[in-house]
Amino acid sequence: MATAARYHLDETNLERQRLLGKVLNPFTRTFLAEAGLSSAARCLDVGCGIGETTRLLASVAPNAECVGLEKDAALLAAARRQSDEPRVCFQEGDATQLPFGDHSFDFVFARYLMMHLPEPGDAIREMLRVVRKGGTVMLIEPDFSFHATHPPSWAYERLPELLRALLPDPFIGRKLDHLLRQAGAGEIHLDAVARIEQGSSDVRRCWRLTVESMGPAMLAKNILTLEELAAVVAELRRVEDDINSVLLCNPNVCAWART
Ligand SMILES: C[S@@+](CC[C@H](N)C(=O)[O-])C[C@H]1O[C@@H](n2cnc3c(N)ncnc32)[C@H](O)[C@@H]1O
Repeated sequence: MATAARYHLDETNLERQRLLGKVLNPFTRTFLAEAGLSSAARCLDVGCGIGETTRLLASVAPNAECVGLEKDAALLAAARRQSDEPRVCFQEGDATQLPFGDHSFDFVFARYLMMHLPEPGDAIREMLRVVRKGGTVMLIEPDFSFHATHPPSWAYERLPELLRALLPDPFIGRKLDHLLRQAGAGEIHLDAVARIEQGSSDVRRCWRLTVESMGPAMLAKNILTLEELAAVVAELRRVEDDINSVLLCNPNVCAWART
C-alpha cells in the first residue's frame, strides 16, 4: 500500500521554484539530451511543481506531448497559467499512485521529488510501471550533505543538519542507483554535477527562500525556535547580499534507466 507523503515546504512564494528552474535547468538539459529525450513522443514529469521541468522536457523533445503531474492544486494552477503550448498539459495526482496505464510513456522524469517522499521506492516503481518497454526513467536528486562558502558562513554549515531533521532524505542522490535497482530497473547510467557560484546570487537566494519556505514545518517540529530561524535566515541573506562571497554547491546526481 502506497504511503501518504507530507510535503514540508510552503510553496506560496512561487519565486523559489522559478529560481530552482533557473539554477538546475542548464545541467538538467544536458542530462536529458544525453539520455536521448529528443526522440520521445510522450513524456511524464512527476512532481512538476509550477511546470519548470515539464516545459524543459517539451523544449528538449520538440514533438513530444508532455504531461506534468503534481499534487498541489495551487502549483498546478500556476503551471497552467505559465504554459500555453497545447502539447504541454498538467494533471493533479500522487507520485505513489500514478493515474496512468502501464507502459503509456516513452520518457518518465522526476527532479527534486524523491528526497521529499518517505517511501521513494513506491514512486520509482510507479514510474517504471508507466514507462514503455525500451523507454527511459530519469531521476535527478541532490546530495545536500555538503555546502561550503568562502568566507565561511555558520548557516551554510548548519544546512545539512537542518535538512536532515526535516526532510525524509536530503542525501538521497547517492542512493538513486540502488533505489532504481531495488525497484527492478536494469541498465542504469549515473552522473553528477556540482556548481560553484561567484558574482551572482541565484543559488544563495534560492537557499534563503527554501529555508523560509521550510520555516513553518521546522517550527512545528521544534527543529528551530522562532529566534533561531530568524538568525539562520538573516545569515543566509547576508551571504546572498555579499557579492564577493563564493558558494561551492551540493552535488546533484542524475540516474537514468532504460527499461
Ligand atoms: C522541489 S519541487 C520540484 C519541482 C520540479 N520538479 C523542479 O525540479 O523544478 C517538488 C514538487 O513535488 C511535489 N510533490 C511532493 N510530493 C508529491 C507527491 N507525492 N506526488 C506528486 N507531487 C508531489 C511538490 O508539491 C513540489 O511541487
